[in-house]
Amino acid sequence: MTGTKFHTNLIIAARIALAVAVFTVTSLAARAADSARTQLDEQCLACHSAEGLEMKLGDGGKLALQVDGAAFAKSVHSKIGCAVCHANTSFENHPPVKKKIASGREYSLGMNKVCANCHAPAVKLYEGSIHASLIRDGNSWAPSCTDCHSPHAVMAGATYNPAKGTPCSKCHDAVFTAYSGSVHGKATLACSNCHRAHDVGSPTAGDQVKNACLGCHEDAQDKHQKWLPNAKRHFDAVSCPACHSPQAKRKVDLRLYDNLAQQSVMEKAGVPQFESRARSADKKGAGLDAMALHSLLREFNRDVGDSKTTLRGRLEVSSGVEAHQLAPSTLAIRDCAKCHQQGADPFQSVTVSIVGPDGRPVRYGAQPEVLNSIISVDSLSGFYAIGGTRIKLLDWLLALAVMGGIGVPMGHMTIRWLFRKYAKKITGQADS
Ligand code: HEC
Ligand code: HEC
Ligand code: HEC
Ligand code: HEC
Ligand code: HEC
Ligand code: HEC
Ligand code: HEC
Ligand code: HEC
Ligand code: HEC
Repeated sequence: MTGTKFHTNLIIAARIALAVAVFTVTSLAARAADSARTQLDEQCLACHSAEGLEMKLGDGGKLALQVDGAAFAKSVHSKIGCAVCHANTSFENHPPVKKKIASGREYSLGMNKVCANCHAPAVKLYEGSIHASLIRDGNSWAPSCTDCHSPHAVMAGATYNPAKGTPCSKCHDAVFTAYSGSVHGKATLACSNCHRAHDVGSPTAGDQVKNACLGCHEDAQDKHQKWLPNAKRHFDAVSCPACHSPQAKRKVDLRLYDNLAQQSVMEKAGVPQFESRARSADKKGAGLDAMALHSLLREFNRDVGDSKTTLRGRLEVSSGVEAHQLAPSTLAIRDCAKCHQQGADPFQSVTVSIVGPDGRPVRYGAQPEVLNSIISVDSLSGFYAIGGTRIKLLDWLLALAVMGGIGVPMGHMTIRWLFRKYAKKITGQADS
C-alpha cells in the first residue's frame, strides 16, 4: 500500500469529518455499540442503511444506495471508514441532488479506481489480465475489483470457498459445474490455483495454465516420459485435458507464429485483419483449404518485412467445459492410435487462429486436408503427428520411435528436410 496516498486520504477524511459536523444525526447513540465503525461512518449509515434509498440513473435504471452496516463492520475495511474511499463525497453538497450518473456500470468502474490508492500490486497484476482487457474493449460483463470483492463487505482473500467456486462461479457457472465433478473439484482446488486471481491469462493462448499444472505435478514430465516418447514435445503440442478429459471431443488448432520474433502473432491493436483476410482467402466459404491457408500466411508475411510467419499446431479439447472434466489418470488416453492413425478423430476438426486484441485467440475454420497437404508442410513447423495425417512415409518413423530404433529428434529432422524440398517446389508453383 502506498503510505503517502493513504496519508492524504486520512487528511481528506478528517476534513470531511469536520464538514459533517453540521449534520443532525439522530441515531448516533443507538449505534455507538458498533465499535468497529467510526462516528463519521455512523453518520453516513444513518441515511445509507435505509432500505429503498436509491437514485435515478441516466440510463433509466436505479442505483440502490443501501449499505449493509453490519457486514461493513466485519469487513477488512471497517477501520478505513466510508469517507476514505468516498473522498469526493463532499458534505457541502451532499446528498448530491444534481449529480448525474449515466449507469451503474459506469459508476462502478469509476469508483474502482480508488482501490489503486492502497493495493497497487493487485491492480498492476489485474491490469494485465484478460478481464481488464475485455473491459478496455467495452465488454460489459467482465469483472472489475468489486465484481469479485463486494465493495462494502470485502473479506480476506483466504475466505473464498473453492467448493462453491467463489468468486468465479457466478459468471462461469457452466465451467464450474463441469469442474465440480473433476479430480480437482473433488480435491477442492480453487479456480485461481490454475488461472490466478488477478492476472488471469488466456488459458488457450499461453503457457500459464500448463505451467500451473507442472508447478503442482512437478514430476509429471518424467513420469510420462516412461511410456510417452518425447513427453516434452507432446506437452507442447497436446493440451493436458486432451488426454485427461477422456470423454471430450478433440480438435487441432493451428496458431500463426512468428518464427523470427519467437512468439505468437498478435492482431494489431485497432486494425483487426485476420478474419477479413481469412474470409477473403476462403472463397468458397467452406473453411480454409491448403491453398487458401498458404496465401493467408503470405499476406501476414508481407506485412512484417523479414519476419517468417508459420503455424504451430496444438491438439486440444473443443470446449472450455470439457477442459474441466479431468478424470482420474487411470482413465486418461494412453492409446497412441487415438492420434497416430490415419484419419484419427482429433485431426478431423481444424481451426486456424491468431491472438486477438483482448488476448484470446480468434479462430477461423479450416478443412482437415490442410494437415495432410504437402503445401502446408513447410509452414506447419513439424506438426505432422506421425500417422495422424496421410503422410504415409511417417508411419515407419513412429514404429521406429516406439522401438527406440532411432533418435526421435533425428528422425524428425530427416523428414522435415525431405518434405521441404517437395514443399518448396509446389508452393513455388502456387505463388506464381
Ligand atoms: C442526510 C442523509 C445522507 C447522509 C448523512 C449521507 N448521504 Fe450519501 N446520499 C444520500 C442521498 C439521498 C443520496 C442520493 C442523492 C440523489 O438521489 O441524487 C446519496 C448518494 C450517495 C452516493 C451515490 C452518489 C455519489 O455521490 O457518488 C454515495 C457514494 C454516498 N451517498 C455516500 C455517502 C457517504 C460516504 C456518506 C458519509 C460520509 C454519506 N453518503 C452521507 C443521503 C445521505
Ligand atoms: C474500500 C473502499 C470503500 C469503502 C470503505 C466504502 N465504499 Fe462505498 N463504494 C465503494 C465502491 C468501489 C463503490 C462502487 C460500487 C460498485 O463497484 O459496485 C461504492 C458505492 C457506494 C454507494 C453507491 C451504491 C452502491 O452500492 O453502488 C454508496 C451509497 C456507498 N458506497 C456508501 C458507502 C458507505 C456508507 C460506506 C461506509 C459504511 C462506504 N461506502 C464505504 C468503495 C467503498
Ligand atoms: C476475477 C476475480 C477477481 C478480480 C477481478 C479481482 N480480484 Fe482480488 N482476489 C480474488 C481472489 C479469488 C483472491 C484470493 C486470493 C487468491 O485466490 O489468489 C483475491 C485476493 C485479493 C487481495 C488479497 C491479497 C492478494 O493480493 O492476493 C487483494 C488486496 C485484492 N484481491 C484486491 C483486488 C483489487 C484491488 C482488484 C481490482 C484491481 C481485484 N482484487 C480484482 C479475485 C479477484
Ligand atoms: C485507503 C486504503 C484502502 C483502499 C482505498 C482499499 N483498501 Fe483494501 N485494504 C486496505 C487495508 C488497510 C486492508 C487490510 C490489510 C490487512 O489486513 O493486512 C485491506 C484489505 C483488503 C483485502 C483483503 C486482503 C487480504 O490479505 O486478504 C482485499 C481483498 C481488499 N482490501 C480489496 C480492496 C478493493 C477491491 C478495494 C477497492 C474497492 C480496496 N481494497 C480499497 C486498505 C484499502
Ligand atoms: C463478473 C463476471 C465474471 C467473474 C466474477 C469472473 N469472470 Fe472470467 N470472464 C468473464 C467474461 C465476461 C469473460 C469473457 C469470455 C466469456 O464471455 O466467457 C471472462 C473470461 C475469462 C477467461 C478467458 C476465457 C477465454 O475464452 O479464454 C478466464 C480464464 C476466466 N474468465 C477466468 C476467471 C476466473 C478464474 C475467475 C475467478 C477468479 C473469473 N473468471 C471471474 C466474466 C467473469
Ligand atoms: C486444474 C487446473 C484448472 C482449474 C482448477 C480450473 N481451470 Fe479453467 N481451464 C483449465 C484448462 C487446462 C483450460 C483449457 C486450456 C487449454 O485449452 O489448454 C481452462 C479453460 C478455462 C476457461 C476458458 C474456456 C473457454 O471457453 O475457452 C475459463 C473461462 C475457465 N477455465 C474458468 C475456470 C473457472 C471459473 C474455474 C473454477 C470453477 C476453473 N477454470 C478452474 C484449467 C483449470
Ligand atoms: C498423450 C496423452 C497425455 C498427455 C498429453 C498428458 N497426459 Fe498425463 N497421463 C496420461 C496417462 C495415460 C496417464 C496415466 C499413466 C499411468 O497410469 O501410468 C497420465 C498420468 C498423469 C498424472 C498422474 C501420474 C502422476 O504423474 O502423478 C498426472 C498428474 C498427469 N498425468 C498430469 C498431466 C499434465 C499436467 C499434463 C500436461 C502438461 C499431462 N498429464 C499431459 C496421458 C497424458
Ligand atoms: C494447486 C495444485 C494443483 C494444480 C495447479 C493442478 N493440480 Fe492436478 N491435482 C492436484 C491434487 C491435490 C490432486 C488430487 C490428489 C491426487 O490425486 O494427487 C490432483 C489430481 C490430478 C490428476 C489425477 C491424478 C490421478 O492419479 O488420478 C490429474 C490427471 C491431474 N491432477 C492433472 C492436472 C492438470 C492437467 C493440471 C493443469 C490443468 C493440474 N493437475 C493442476 C493438484 C494440482
Ligand atoms: C492425444 C493425441 C496423442 C496421443 C495419445 C499420442 N500422441 Fe504422439 N504426438 C501427438 C501429436 C499432436 C504430435 C505432434 C507433435 C509435433 O510435431 O509438434 C505427436 C508426436 C509424436 C512423436 C514425434 C515426436 C517428435 O519428436 O517429433 C512420436 C514419436 C510420438 N508422438 C509417439 C507417440 C506414442 C508412441 C504414443 C503412445 C504411447 C503417442 N505418441 C500418443 C499426439 C498424440
